[in-house]
Amino acid sequence: MVCLGNICRSPIAEGVLQSKVNSDLVFVDSAGTAAYHVGNAPDKRSIYIASKYNVNLKNQKARKFTVSDFESFDTIYAMDESNYQNIIKLAKNNSHISKVKLILNEVNPLSNQSVPDPYYGGTQGFEKVYMMLQEACSIIAEKLQNDR
Ligand code: 4NP
Repeated sequence: MVCLGNICRSPIAEGVLQSKVNSDLVFVDSAGTAAYHVGNAPDKRSIYIASKYNVNLKNQKARKFTVSDFESFDTIYAMDESNYQNIIKLAKNNSHISKVKLILNEVNPLSNQSVPDPYYGGTQGFEKVYMMLQEACSIIAEKLQNDR
């Protein structure tokens, strides 16, 4: 799960997807394409919204996306078009490129919609982001189940 800062959107996506899958079988992680917040906990507003739905983000710490993530993960979900482009720039081959998807295309295929960046807005934006990611992660979890 990748966004820009790894403190608002992708921590929610990580927490929500991990809560929907068997952690013995599926490893979920998140990262940011920028290093501004490396080492920081998720934004308080993300922690608060997730906790309302019993998803704990408190143990997460921001890190920067690295080229080795292309090898470590089967699928890389970008939150928005700009994150997508930033990840693709780091790809070394077609196999890397093919792993990168816009997360909301799981909900509306080929629509190329973005999860809006809630950082500069209020709590409402985080609620909206949470709902979008909850829907996308339900679909992803179901697919992972069917893959087995
Ligand atoms: P995120 O949100 O990419 O969802 O974690 C942001 C967090 C921080 C900044 C921008 C977006 N920032 O500019 O510091």
